[in-house]
Amino acid sequence: MSDIQFEIDGIQVTATKGRTLLEAAQEKGISIPTLCHHEKLEPFGGCRLCIVEVEVKGWTKLVVSCVYPVENNIIVRTRSEKVDRIRKTIIELLMAHAPDAPELVKLAKEYGADRNRYEKDPSFCIHCGLCVRYCNEVTKKNAIGFVDRGINKEISFIPEIAARECNECKECFPLCPTSYLQAAFVLTESLSFASYSKESK
Ligand code: SF4
Ligand code: FES
Repeated sequence: MSDIQFEIDGIQVTATKGRTLLEAAQEKGISIPTLCHHEKLEPFGGCRLCIVEVEVKGWTKLVVSCVYPVENNIIVRTRSEKVDRIRKTIIELLMAHAPDAPELVKLAKEYGADRNRYEKDPSFCIHCGLCVRYCNEVTKKNAIGFVDRGINKEISFIPEIAARECNECKECFPLCPTSYLQAAFVLTESLSFASYSKESK
């Protein structure tokens, strides 16, 4: 595959065609914050925290770096007044749902985000989809899914699969940026695993 040449934060970068800006930056040791990205998973572009500024022929736009492919001669800025302002707002919105999530607390410090800016709605899940996608794409067990849509969307273990598969696996647990996944598992386990174990005897 042909190589693409461009600039990130003043550094000249060469990357293989088809790589994303995030991957190219990471290969150069340039850090871009992410919440829904995982190197084993298909790009998702859900949290928007990884936005960066891209300049093409003098025009500037904001793009989601984990899904945006590298292009010749572009100038990428991973931090700018606009990028930082948007990241700060995203962090503040997510903190309304999961105010104590360690990753968010760390990011809030870096971007000067106010955890109390938006009215609290502590649903704890921030819909990054890491658990659902990892269970589907990597372990291929399909034991977790999203139910409902929009503001009512939430993750849910599928008890008949989870009762059989999850205790031996739990590979998704450390991926969750909040405490919600473990709590949801414990709840599902206590409410419904026993009946599925009995049924399977
Ligand atoms: S439970 Fe955790 S890993 Fe799963 S979508 Fe919600 S925040 Fe992400
Ligand atoms: S890491 Fe790119 S949108 Fe979440």
